[in-house]
Amino acid sequence: MDEKKVVFSALKPTGDLQIGNYIGALKNMIKMTEDYDCLYAVADLHSLTVDCDPKLLRKRSYDFMALFLAIGLDPEKCTLFLQSHVPAHAELAWILNCFTQFGEAKRMTQFKDKSAKAPQNANVGLFAYPTLMAADILLYKADYVPVGKDQMQHLELARTIAERFNNKYSPTFTLPEGITGKRGSKIFSLADPTAKMGKTDENLNGTVFILDDPDTVMRKFKRAVTDSDATVRFDPQNKPGISNLLTIYSVFAGVSVEEAEREFAAADYATLKTRVGETVVEYFRPIREEYARLIADKGYLESVMKTGAEKASYRAEKMLAKVYRKVGLVR
Ligand code: TRP
Repeated sequence: MDEKKVVFSALKPTGDLQIGNYIGALKNMIKMTEDYDCLYAVADLHSLTVDCDPKLLRKRSYDFMALFLAIGLDPEKCTLFLQSHVPAHAELAWILNCFTQFGEAKRMTQFKDKSAKAPQNANVGLFAYPTLMAADILLYKADYVPVGKDQMQHLELARTIAERFNNKYSPTFTLPEGITGKRGSKIFSLADPTAKMGKTDENLNGTVFILDDPDTVMRKFKRAVTDSDATVRFDPQNKPGISNLLTIYSVFAGVSVEEAEREFAAADYATLKTRVGETVVEYFRPIREEYARLIADKGYLESVMKTGAEKASYRAEKMLAKVYRKVGLVR
């Protein structure tokens, strides 16, 4: 038996992946496969809670899977799948809905924000988003769940639901622990270095996507917003643009921020921008090339999806059967 701790995480295919996702989530997901039993899903069902174009959703589901592989996630060493390929997610989510208080779901910040921003699409799926997420996690008895800070509240709710269920019946679910990335590794928009680089950022010039071609990457870096003080120094308070460039450089050149600062102490801004751009281009070159190869091979991607879904289903079905039995559904 495999005694490794279980890690579950998922990414919603609602925007193209950018280098901030790479630093904030993907890099750590790769690292975790060395020590844990990791399951990583493309949360396509969650994407439906926001208005999305079917063609784009389908394309991004393939893209995400190809990128999972291209960045080095090995389908032999972890389980990679599409959430919708494992029906147990939607099935357990229904059960969990019945163990979640209306008031609890209503208090979720993400629900409040999103339904306020787009009241015309404040759908029930958006409301039940956290219970589907709880199902994702609880089906696999995940011990650790890498999430962004914005998802911590959902993770807490998953724990609450799990505990409630365990107390009412008998120990069934593992209480998951959220893992948020280290501080300091956060990167900001190149167009507005006080705002987080977002995968659905409206200003495309501020966001560098993993699959941007080299010219685009260079153009975005050359246009990065800085300041007029002309000294390269790490000072996030007063020099957010330059500090952001130094952070990005340090991550992709594999040096500390202090080393980066020293390296560019005498450089002008144009040189810094060019060097950071080139470093990012080179870092992602093999990933981009591998992605291009994979995305042209739909058959292979589908076989990875299928194998992943089979591995995940086997585990998920066992948990679902247990839950069905406990609540009194006839098998
Ligand atoms: N809601 C997460 C996000 O927006 C994505 C997600 C879906 C997820 N299911 C999950 C993350 C389960 C961790 C565990 O980032």
